[in-house]
Amino acid sequence: MKILVINGPNINMIGIREKHIYGTISYQRIVQLIVQEGKKRNMEITCVQSNYEGDLVTWIQDAYFEKYDGIVINPGAYTHTSIALLDAVKAIAPMPVVEVHLSKVSEREDFRQISYISKACIKTIQGKKELGYIEALDVLLDYYRDREL
Ligand code: DQA
Repeated sequence: MKILVINGPNINMIGIREKHIYGTISYQRIVQLIVQEGKKRNMEITCVQSNYEGDLVTWIQDAYFEKYDGIVINPGAYTHTSIALLDAVKAIAPMPVVEVHLSKVSEREDFRQISYISKACIKTIQGKKELGYIEALDVLLDYYRDREL
C-alpha cells in the first residue's frame, strides 16, 4: 500500500515551536517514526512538507496520478483557511484522506474551529501529538480491510 503523508506550514518547526502545545519531538523524528511504523504495516510511505499552499494542492493531485492508496495530511494553519485544499481532496475522490492535528484544535482558539478539508476526509485525528499520524495509518488499513469483506 502506497501512502503519501503531507505536512503543511510550520510543521517543520515542530520540536522548536510552542512545545507546550505540539510536543518536543522534531519533525525529522516524526518522519522516521511514520516510515518505521509504515514498514511494520507493509506500507510504502512518502513524507513531504511545505510552507506553501500550492505545493500541498499539487501533492494531493500527484497522489491521484501516481496511484497512491491514501493520504495522511496535517495542513497546519491552511486547515482553517483553505478551500483549495478541500477542492483538491474532493477532486481525487474516492481516495481516502485522513486529517491529523498534533494539538487538540477543538479546545483551542475560535479561529481554529473551522476545518474546510475535514468535510472531504474520512477521519480527523487531533490531540494525540505524533501518535496521531500512526493512528491515521491504521485508519487507512481499516478502510481497505472493510472494503475487502
Ligand atoms: C496544527 C493545528 C493548526 O491550527 C496550526 O495552525 C498548526 C498545527 C496541529 O497539528 O495541531 O500549524 O495543524
